[in-house]
Amino acid sequence: MKILVINGPNLNLLGVREPEIYGNRTLKDLENLITAHADKKGVSVSFFQTNHEGKMVDAIQSAMNVYDGIIINPAAYTHTSVAILDAVKSTGIKCVEVHISDPDTREEFRKISYIRLACIATIKGKGFDGYLEAMDILMDACK
Ligand code: DQA
Repeated sequence: MKILVINGPNLNLLGVREPEIYGNRTLKDLENLITAHADKKGVSVSFFQTNHEGKMVDAIQSAMNVYDGIIINPAAYTHTSVAILDAVKSTGIKCVEVHISDPDTREEFRKISYIRLACIATIKGKGFDGYLEAMDILMDACK
């Protein structure tokens, strides 16, 4: 099974960015954690991070016929991007939405998630471990 992990804007600054919300670990730490879990489960995993909406759309489209599932944290684009929602819907790839924090308990504007409409599950507020749970959900869904 092949999974693509997509992280959106400002997640390249994990470890520096608002550590009281996102913690002290870096994006590299996150990728290492996911890779270790994937190795244990016999899953092949790739990573993509971008600060650009269109590049995220391109990455989702390129995943068609290549990956079995996507774990996506669209970051701020969660709350604004119909284009990213449409990309996931267009490809039909199984997708799980992940947030390190719980956006539903933060500012009002973070309560809207467009991508949620195209995802088989949403994991939020579980820190980095949410990505591992997302992988398990995708594995179950692709059995
Ligand atoms: C986030 C939550 C979003 O509201 C925010 O814009 C992010 C990160 C999270 O992982 O908790 O950049 O997606």
